Amino acid sequence: MKQAEREDFGALEGSELVENIKEVVVPAVELQTRIQALGRAISVDYAGKDPIIVGVLKGVVFFIADLLRAITIPVEVDFIAVSNYSVETRQTGLVRLEKDLEIPIQGRHVLFVEDVIDTGLTLNYLLQNLKARQPASLEVCVLFDKSSNRLINIPLKYKGFDLPDRFVVGYGLDYREKYRNLPFVGLLKADALKKSPH
Ligand code: IMP
Ligand code: MG
Repeated sequence: MKQAEREDFGALEGSELVENIKEVVVPAVELQTRIQALGRAISVDYAGKDPIIVGVLKGVVFFIADLLRAITIPVEVDFIAVSNYSVETRQTGLVRLEKDLEIPIQGRHVLFVEDVIDTGLTLNYLLQNLKARQPASLEVCVLFDKSSNRLINIPLKYKGFDLPDRFVVGYGLDYREKYRNLPFVGLLKADALKKSPH
């Protein structure tokens, strides 16, 4: 591994959490710099609009926590939780709402925040659901865009990074529920993708 990559492990150097990481794709400092810029842009665009920031559990919690602290105007935050129905979900985006919003969004300015958009099917389904509640506006802020896999065109008002079509973990993104708590985004070693017990 290159020196620059090893350095980004920082305090995690040598820890069990990073022993299966092959390569850092987005270092922690680049994530934080970009999120600060997104927060500034959102603060300007939504000034005086009393927006609601909406996220989908669980992957988004790391991004949304840092983004919210980079926003300098009053905002409200709410979450939805979904579960996939079946294998077909991957083709249709159809999901079951496990936890709905607590705040009514009719007539409100809603900014939907996601960690990663891949095919766009899940996001499209959720946006249709929210749109039916007649918000004053509904825009999307996504941290990672894997545009080469997109099946549905969804306008992204704010975007953090373009990612190649590779499976990555960290900063909320999981492999079998693990690695979400990495402060950077990285690639797993091939044998880690096979040997996981769950
Ligand atoms: P899609 O846009 O409907 O294909 O679904 C995107 C979802 O797939 C995200 O919410 C993630 O849960 C998951 N996902 C996509 N790419 C990755 C990845 O590289 N690592 C981990 N999860 C991913
Ligand atoms: Mg997700």
